[in-house]
Amino acid sequence: MGLGGAWDRTPYTASDIDHAEAAVEAALDAGITRFDHADIYRFGKSEAVFGEVLARASGLRERIEIQTKCGIRLAEDDRPGLYDLRADTILARVRESLARLRTDVIDTLLLHRPDPLADPDEIAKALHTLHDEGLVRRFGVSNMSAAQITRLQACLDIPLTVDQLEMSLARRDWVEAGVLVNTPAAAGLGFPEGTLEHCAAQGIELQAWGPLARGRYTNGEPSPAADLARKLARRHDTTPETVLLWWLQRHPAGIVPVVGTSRPERIRACRDAAVRTTELSHEEWYELWIAARGAPLP
Ligand SMILES: NC(=O)c1ccc[n+]([C@@H]2O[C@H](COP(=O)([O-])OP(=O)(O)OC[C@H]3O[C@@H](n4cnc5c(N)ncnc54)[C@H](OP(=O)(O)O)[C@@H]3O)[C@@H](O)[C@H]2O)c1
Repeated sequence: MGLGGAWDRTPYTASDIDHAEAAVEAALDAGITRFDHADIYRFGKSEAVFGEVLARASGLRERIEIQTKCGIRLAEDDRPGLYDLRADTILARVRESLARLRTDVIDTLLLHRPDPLADPDEIAKALHTLHDEGLVRRFGVSNMSAAQITRLQACLDIPLTVDQLEMSLARRDWVEAGVLVNTPAAAGLGFPEGTLEHCAAQGIELQAWGPLARGRYTNGEPSPAADLARKLARRHDTTPETVLLWWLQRHPAGIVPVVGTSRPERIRACRDAAVRTTELSHEEWYELWIAARGAPLP
């Protein structure tokens, strides 16, 4: 999401392509081979500069997996932003993404957000068409609940394989909701109940967006959680960024962090999360959680 220059329709520049290339190279060095996109990121320019990088590096496409999303229309001029999962829109947006990414096939397509007006049968028809035409290998969703996944899956012959949601040490309701289940503190938690369990049971990969909490614990500002992340990083001979990702990966639901930084040095700081299994102990995981929530568990 950080590639492609400004969030507007001004053309991307050669330096935007260089920036994308440096990020991709840092990711590959760090053992990261899956790249998350969306048609709307930087008004299509994230996909476009990535396509330029693919065109520059022969053989790169075969070494990586590309995931992208459709279903959101950004606000522009006097038009409000909205969600659109009509079949014709899905088909058109995916063809545009393929052209920008300069590839013949998208490995995984996610429906970016639920569109309350969308008919699940109509969505399913579009996804079957994309699959039958060989344009998309796998499908998933984003920001959706277990109930929404179940409803859509009932119309689909192809399994939904991903749900991408915001999960991090800062956005903790994915874990708080399950623990505070019969306490008043559970009221107001945003995470859809049962979604973690549903995905784990159905083999649906849970992807965490915002996993580094946009730098909240690694930007140098002291806080109990940031201090502890640094201390744990020293103990395990790794970086605080890795500790934050290990915290997500330590959960048995098999959470896959979608790292958003486009800075090579920060991408490299995530390397151990890609190449080493999480080393956080039971106690360390709880200590970090409690430090971030700022209050003991009930
Ligand atoms: N499905 C969805 O609805 C949805 C929503 C949002 C994002 N996403 C996806 O998830 C990815 C990750 O989300 P995210 O970007 O919000 O997550 P993140 O990895 O927690 O945050 C990275 C963002 O924070 C900035 N940042 C500032 N200081 C930082 C620091 N010290 N360490 C690390 N990052 C710092 C980064 O800028 P620099 O690049 O300058 O480091 C970057 O913009 C996105 O790229 C996108 O692919 C999906």
